[in-house]
Amino acid sequence: MHLAVLGATGAVGRTMLRVLAERRLPVDRLTLLASPRSAGTTVEWGGREWTIEVPREGSFRGVDYALFSAGGARSKEWGPRAAAEGAIVVDNSSAFRMDARVPLVVPEVNAEAARDRPRGIIANPNCSTIQMVVALEAIRRAAGLRRVVATTFQSVSGAGETGREALAREVSGGGGGESPFSRRIAANVIPQIGGFDAEGWTEEERKMIHETRKILGLPDLPVAATCVRVPVEVGHSVQVAVETEGELSVDGARAALAAFPGVRVSAGAEDFPTPLETADTDEVYVGRIRRDPHVPRTLHLWVVADNLRKGAATNAVQIVESLAR
Ligand SMILES: NC(=O)c1ccc[n+]([C@@H]2O[C@H](COP(=O)([O-])OP(=O)(O)OC[C@H]3O[C@@H](n4cnc5c(N)ncnc54)[C@H](OP(=O)(O)O)[C@@H]3O)[C@@H](O)[C@H]2O)c1
Repeated sequence: MHLAVLGATGAVGRTMLRVLAERRLPVDRLTLLASPRSAGTTVEWGGREWTIEVPREGSFRGVDYALFSAGGARSKEWGPRAAAEGAIVVDNSSAFRMDARVPLVVPEVNAEAARDRPRGIIANPNCSTIQMVVALEAIRRAAGLRRVVATTFQSVSGAGETGREALAREVSGGGGGESPFSRRIAANVIPQIGGFDAEGWTEEERKMIHETRKILGLPDLPVAATCVRVPVEVGHSVQVAVETEGELSVDGARAALAAFPGVRVSAGAEDFPTPLETADTDEVYVGRIRRDPHVPRTLHLWVVADNLRKGAATNAVQIVESLAR
């Protein structure tokens, strides 16, 4: 299999190369692409050195799957061209996620959607959305979904390498440098990820609302989210309040989640997952499962996953695996 990775030197791209090396995809050829800053540098993978190139016409000829993680502008520029050159594109940016002709896929939830891709492009959802919908789908199969309210605690690596660098610099007392955050992030929390719309919702919050509905195939599901950046290096946490159609006990929810692929459920109240303890793994971790004390048929969940792996690289590689199977 010939794979291309656009954005191979970034936070997600480097994680993709690690995930690809760990899994058993029969990859025998790589095309690694990034900006002119990295062109000519080399990466070791699979016992060989691969040279980073700048994307150009013909880069995707002969490529089976092209994994994109170089931002929305590059995806818009190169996605249709890569598809025209014959590659199946799996795109991590938000460029195509809400395009009706582009499936938005989390393999545990809607793997079959990836087979209908009129533009030759499959979109990987937003990181917080991926981990939340895995948990929601398990609950949906047990008792249906009526309403979802989420609050996220998102790590700085969700904003790429510059996010990590900004936190490290601020913690060490260094000044200057570029930061993707609107305020200081060290020793702080910032309830803003992306710009605000006229009604006061941020881009990340709108993504969670619309992408959740599209992946679940529930266009009218009431979803609200508050997305918060926290000074954590890797791993997003999401607190989800989910109202179900039918009755679902805490034990019933625990059983449904434990039986769902890719989910690990905490043993009890004190055994909750944290980003630090679950980083560098591929699963979605669920703990703190409680019934709402006032609202009927409503459960509260604490959902943690590694944003660079399940929230991006692993999910993209799983899409390729499901198609190659
Ligand atoms: N971080 C996450 O948790 C996460 C989760 C889901 C989705 N995503 C999405 O994945 C994408 C990448 O995110 P990231 O966190 O990996 O960002 P990042 O660390 O900033 O990496 C960006 C990558 O894009 C490359 N690039 C930049 N300009 C380019 C150009 N003109 N031509 C070709 N390549 C170019 C960079 O190459 P150089 O190294 O040469 O500059 C680098 O490889 C974004 O669309 C993001 O929204 C990220």
